[in-house]
Amino acid sequence: MTKQTAQLTIDGNTFALPICESTTGEKALDIRGLLRDTGCITLDSGYMNTGSCQSQITYLDGEKGILRYRGYEVADLAEHCQFIEVAYLLLTGELPTAIELAQFKNDMTKFALIHEDMIHFFDHFPPKASPMSILSTMVGTLHDFYPEMDLDEDPYGGITTTTARLLSKTRTIAAFSYKKNMGHPLAYPRPDLSYCSNFLYMMFDRPNLPYTIEPVLVSALNKLLILHADHEQNCSTSTVRLVGSAGVRLYPSISAGISALWGPLHGGASAAVMRMLEKIYADGMNYDKYIEMAKDPGNPYRLTGFGHRVYKTYDPRATIIKKTCHEVLSTLKISDPLLDIALELEERVGNDEYFQKRNLYPNVDFYSGIIYRAMGIPTNMFTVMFALGRLPGWISHWQEMNLGKDSSRIGRPRQVYSGIPTRSFVPLGERH
Ligand code: CMC
Repeated sequence: MTKQTAQLTIDGNTFALPICESTTGEKALDIRGLLRDTGCITLDSGYMNTGSCQSQITYLDGEKGILRYRGYEVADLAEHCQFIEVAYLLLTGELPTAIELAQFKNDMTKFALIHEDMIHFFDHFPPKASPMSILSTMVGTLHDFYPEMDLDEDPYGGITTTTARLLSKTRTIAAFSYKKNMGHPLAYPRPDLSYCSNFLYMMFDRPNLPYTIEPVLVSALNKLLILHADHEQNCSTSTVRLVGSAGVRLYPSISAGISALWGPLHGGASAAVMRMLEKIYADGMNYDKYIEMAKDPGNPYRLTGFGHRVYKTYDPRATIIKKTCHEVLSTLKISDPLLDIALELEERVGNDEYFQKRNLYPNVDFYSGIIYRAMGIPTNMFTVMFALGRLPGWISHWQEMNLGKDSSRIGRPRQVYSGIPTRSFVPLGERH
């Protein structure tokens, strides 16, 4: 905190607002005393310019395209780390030592199974149930099968039995929901496999068709999960914090975050991108039709996979995902027309004044679906994949919120009332 202040004048009265400075030098007006001092609240629909908390987890500069977890560049982490190392980093603030990583891997193996009674739940979802509703329900249900520990159980940093169980079991739930959706027998987790290999094995191994784990797919999945692992106060993470601020425990708070992620403007976008690319393909590559629809102010249609609330330059995650997409397809000798369409669309959008003026570039969801498709993951599972990646971020924020100094404060925005100020009551018989 600095001693700098900003002056605010309302009706000729001047008030001093403290200025709070981040560790990277950005300034924020601290308006917590505004209502008390001036009688005013602030209006900021969509939280375009509202800092809801102070956080030490992720740093994002949307103008420069910077994304760092706990101070480390996300590109370095994606290049050199395993996903669970990054999960450990987010949760504890430090990269694990070899011993800590071995212990954490051991936890992932120890907690990989889910209670057999939970498996019966899968049988009672309708056959076409969305994997996101299944995931959200099952994660909320973990609370009843595995009583959550207190926050002070913490044996080594931010990794607790509660958090390790959640990370490992959510992966199993995700894979089982796919198996149930396919009507295939479950493939139980194997203790000898890494986090990502185990997931692919549980998804695709069949008794009559053993699954060969392709290293290039394991590496791509690892990168994708790392790149999705946190993104500061996005819609689902803010949901987790808001729900948790009411004193809700970890598993149901994460379940709420999964529901928030589901939306097509958020984690649902990668599936929507595939539908858009497929439509362009079916339409004989009529790019102009879709670009013009997206530019038409009278048409709500948007080119999914472009634009971001914070990034006003190329999303640094999209750069890595695009490269990984090429690597996967060329290593596996897959020719996917949707990649060609995506590349052409990006090229055209990049040359279009409408998109240039609004700084609309490909975001994290634009190329990720093509990689998932190469893995054999169906479109309706894409948001589940996003949720698996985002899980350590959600947990870290829930923990930080609970352990932080504002932990006793429930999240509760204000509003500017725009309805009828007051009216006289009309009895039932006199209303028309
Ligand atoms: N296609 C066409 N126009 C767009 C697009 C797009 N994808 N995105 C934004 N715009 C226009 C928008 O119409 C507006 O134009 P104008 O100033 O003339 O009214 C301007 O750009 C600013 O858009 P906005 O809606 O005010 O921006 P926002 O920060 O509220 O929305 C967004 C961000 C990501 C929801 C939006 O860009 C969008 O809808 N993109 C498509 C959906 C998508 O790809 N979502 C995934 C986001 S990344 C993963 C995640 O964070 O979950």
